[in-house]
Amino acid sequence: MSTVSDDPLYRDPSLAQFYDTANRWGPDFDFCMKLAAGANSALDLGCGTGELTAALAATRDVTGVDPAAAMLDIGRARPGGDKVEWIEGDARTVRLGQKYDLIVLTGHAFQVFLTEEDQRAALATIAAHLSPIGRFVFDTRNPGFLGQHDVRHSKVRQLEHVELGAIEASDESHYDETSGILSYENGYRVLSTGERFAGRSKILYTPRDKLAAMISDAGLTVDAWHGDWEGNPFQAQSREIIPVGRLA
Ligand SMILES: C[S@@+](CC[C@H](N)C(=O)[O-])C[C@H]1O[C@@H](n2cnc3c(N)ncnc32)[C@H](O)[C@@H]1O
Repeated sequence: MSTVSDDPLYRDPSLAQFYDTANRWGPDFDFCMKLAAGANSALDLGCGTGELTAALAATRDVTGVDPAAAMLDIGRARPGGDKVEWIEGDARTVRLGQKYDLIVLTGHAFQVFLTEEDQRAALATIAAHLSPIGRFVFDTRNPGFLGQHDVRHSKVRQLEHVELGAIEASDESHYDETSGILSYENGYRVLSTGERFAGRSKILYTPRDKLAAMISDAGLTVDAWHGDWEGNPFQAQSREIIPVGRLA
């Protein structure tokens, strides 16, 4: 089993501090909040800085699991963070002895698992924690969408950090079509001081059919495959692969 918890982008507090600036509340979190209606409990695997986790916890019991202490520290400090049970743990192996009505992995957390073995272990964790009425949802980027674009990608954005002011966020990536691994570097330059922070990481892209087989092998079934967080049906060239399912 590889060690994904060593990822500097999440483990290093000097990089984790930029996560919320670069990743804002979006349609993914809206979708999960709607799906949570009627759920008395929720488990957020790979919860990160916990913006969604804390929102879910306003009206139900919520556990957030992530191996990166720096990310969890941000979650604990946010408004509503005191209502969440935060667990420093690994989604491949964690066993909480509880069942949940909703299990989410957002922000493409499923893609941090770089081997099929790791993906299967994460799916087994979902199956082990779903209540009889429970549902799961996660997102993973569609290799069919990426296949239509350049394998090399570079983007620079100017963003506003709540404490550091204006920052320049850069994202450089390279996709290897054979392995399905995208290697990338995220950099953040604080414009007032010129200080730059950067970290490299990798994520895995998985075709829908392969994912469907693994989900089934885990004892899960999918009620709907979406191709984006607006809820449109999955198509071969959708940007996202988003299964919503439950125990088989
Ligand atoms: C892109 S962030 C997503 C965070 C959050 N779910 C969101 O939507 O903003 C990916 C997260 O996966 C976490 N992660 C990495 N390895 C993990 C593992 N083995 N188990 C659970 N989470 C893991 C990282 O620490 C990071 O917080």
